[in-house]
Amino acid sequence: MRPVEIKKGVYWVGVVDWNIRTFHGNTYSTKRGTTYNSYLIIDEKVTLIDGVPGSFAGEQIGRIREIVPVEKIDYIVVNHIEPDHSGGLPELMKLCPKAKLFGTAKSKEGLARMYYTDWGLQAVKTGDKLNIGKRNLTFIEAPMIHWPDSMFTYCAEEELLLPNDAFGQHYATSERFDDETDQCALMDEAGKYYANILWPLGGMIARKIDEILKMNISIKMIAPSHGIIWRRDPMKIINSYISWTKNETRPKVVVIFETMWGSTDMMARKITEGLTDGGVEVKLFDITRSDRSEVNSQMLDAKCFVFGSSTHDNGMLSTMAGFLEFLNGLKPKGRIGAAFGSYGWAGGAVPALENFFKEAGIEQALPSIAVKYIPDENELKRCYEMGVELAKKITGKA
Ligand SMILES: Cc1cc2nc3c(=O)[nH]c(=O)nc-3n(C[C@H](O)[C@H](O)[C@H](O)COP(=O)(O)O)c2cc1C
Ligand SMILES: [Fe+2]
Ligand SMILES: [Fe+2]
Repeated sequence: MRPVEIKKGVYWVGVVDWNIRTFHGNTYSTKRGTTYNSYLIIDEKVTLIDGVPGSFAGEQIGRIREIVPVEKIDYIVVNHIEPDHSGGLPELMKLCPKAKLFGTAKSKEGLARMYYTDWGLQAVKTGDKLNIGKRNLTFIEAPMIHWPDSMFTYCAEEELLLPNDAFGQHYATSERFDDETDQCALMDEAGKYYANILWPLGGMIARKIDEILKMNISIKMIAPSHGIIWRRDPMKIINSYISWTKNETRPKVVVIFETMWGSTDMMARKITEGLTDGGVEVKLFDITRSDRSEVNSQMLDAKCFVFGSSTHDNGMLSTMAGFLEFLNGLKPKGRIGAAFGSYGWAGGAVPALENFFKEAGIEQALPSIAVKYIPDENELKRCYEMGVELAKKITGKA
């Protein structure tokens, strides 16, 4: 693939990783692959912004060489040190050892711990400007969006914001721009990225977006470090982020359960029927057979979470417990919930689920339903009614 000129003299020199299927270990499924976007600005000072993983360094260097000898790079802006953006640096720095690096103080500290090499990175702060010839780059620190070292780079002359991981998506495509690609897939992946990585950081993201909007800078293009570049409508992703940071929800319910012999499954299906007949959108997942990061993205706009587990050794089943550990880290706010499950003698799963709701600050909307062994007709009716009641509460008809 040739480099793509995204603005006059500004080139995409990243890499499309079509076949990556998990990210961050196994915490994030990347069914549509991903891209590592890197941008080369040809000016008096040849400047590279963002990088690629070590395994793709050669491909990136080849792409840069189609535009300029890689040895000619003067400046490298490190917006984020995570290995998917910094892994190629050691190989690149061998070819252009005199290149000057810019990043936050935290990125200097982090790179030292990752590569045990001092590339003499110059630490910059919010508002610092770097003149590269006809253009100026302004740095905006973005701590904890999503790592302590994260930073955005803005180029006023190009009305271009380079926010690294923010506004990105794990989405491998032959197209580079928002107006060229499938909108459903694009927003699906953007939401999944937010839900799985940025959700717990919503407060900080809201403040950062506010700060940037108050700077009154013109943003005609947002070029993140993963996925598609926003040029047709950069406000589309900013407005989506604003809504997600507010934890805005819809009358939608996600029912998640784990079962051994199927009783909890029967209950889950009845609750789901009640919710459906109550007129709300429902998604039902057996967590042992579901992709956890896809489940998380379904929860992003759901008002209500319904969790079920049968009792195993006095507590809930372990896949469900593992899922709740992840969910707890995502810190969902403003949700209501309900719990259910089957048990054999002393129980334990339902109280454990109730405890999760309490600790996570999720308001339990209805009393839980715990059933001994196999639910009878009456108990299944109670499950159905739980669904109907929850639907009423969500739609405000209760
Ligand atoms: C999505 C994500 C969230 C993280 N959250 C934290 C965190 O809350 N606190 C922390 O100290 N490190 C956090 N880290 C940093 C990792 O713990 C760090 O990169 C570590 O070196 C990874 O070790 P590993 O290579 O064994 O997975 C996070 C990393 C990622 C990718
Ligand atoms: Fe990252
Ligand atoms: Fe990244």
